[in-house]
Amino acid sequence: MIVTIDGPAGTGKSTAARGLASRLGFEFLDTGAMYRVVAMVCLEENVDPQDAEGASRIAQRVKIDFEGDRTFVDGQDVSDDIRTSPVTSAASQVAQHSGVRDALVEQQRILAAGRDTVSEGRDQGTVVFPDAGCKFFLTADPIERAKRRHLELNERGESVDIDALLREQQARDERDLRRVIAPLKPADDAITIDTTGMDPDQVLDVLEEHCRQQIGDR
Ligand code: DC
Repeated sequence: MIVTIDGPAGTGKSTAARGLASRLGFEFLDTGAMYRVVAMVCLEENVDPQDAEGASRIAQRVKIDFEGDRTFVDGQDVSDDIRTSPVTSAASQVAQHSGVRDALVEQQRILAAGRDTVSEGRDQGTVVFPDAGCKFFLTADPIERAKRRHLELNERGESVDIDALLREQQARDERDLRRVIAPLKPADDAITIDTTGMDPDQVLDVLEEHCRQQIGDR
């Protein structure tokens, strides 16, 4: 069974997807990490993230693997390198290119094939796994989302001004919502959950309850 969790950054998606996978005994697929990898390699190789051909060539070439919550590219652990601010910004640019998306969607389907998986991203319920057994779309108030990201960056030792974060978040949301291919939107059959004011365990409880109902109905 595939469970999809989509939504903008800072809605608690990653924590919820990871926790849900652990509670259900499913694999966890972090598809945002894959766009981040392509962005990181672009920056390393001086390829402009806006360059559709250059970024697509990289997406077709890189071999991305996951082990637990670590991300590997061609065997090298890049889990921390893909979370920096420049990579975060470049990721939403490379994600606009159809060549990049096609290459990564193919890898996502291969990674989940034959495995019970909780897959997290922007287009998992709409494009990548339209037949998923359970689909969620998480939302949250923009200010709370920026605060969560601020806390996350602080914990990682990066100090960024909250207003700058809010502006950057707005720019990324715009790019994700307005892009022509696979824009960020809930699938028709997704359950939308507003996580504003909810703690991670409350979110998890809601998701788990829905999933267990679906599993029970099978
Ligand atoms: O979830 P995240 O912040 O790690 O995602 C990084 C970027 O990748 C974000 O700008 C949106 C994009 N993305 C996407 O377009 N489709 C996905 N399935 C996952 C992420």
